[in-house]
Amino acid sequence: MDAISELFAAAAAARSNAYAPYSRFAVGAAIRSASGAIYSGANVENAAYPVGICAEESAIAAMISAGEKEIAEVLIVAESAEPVMPCGACRQRLFEFATKDTKLHSAGPEGWRKTLAFAELLPHPFGPHDLK
Ligand code: THU
Repeated sequence: MDAISELFAAAAAARSNAYAPYSRFAVGAAIRSASGAIYSGANVENAAYPVGICAEESAIAAMISAGEKEIAEVLIVAESAEPVMPCGACRQRLFEFATKDTKLHSAGPEGWRKTLAFAELLPHPFGPHDLK
């Protein structure tokens, strides 16, 4: 399986477990870390709506919990007319662990649709460098 297909399979599997009874918008995310390992997550909604978390947050939490801190690439999968992009808050969350080479892939249920460089996704970021 190629690298994107592997990420897609992990993200799609996580998406199938999404807890999204309120929006009915299931999202899966899969991160390939610097070591090459894959960490996935799904959105987890809550009856108290703002408390819900995005798939990207779940995947980041899995990566950090496993002791890794660098995202080489990330793929999200959801069903929408246009390729789905991470929300603004998740762009910031991902940036924390991104490098200048980090790529964001967006997929639909059938597979890959679009790839962006992280600099296109979050230009002029605020990040750890600003606190130095
Ligand atoms: N959502 C994600 O999990 N990731 C995204 O990139 C976009 C939005 C979730 C949040 C909420 O559970 C549902 O999709 C509808 O906004």
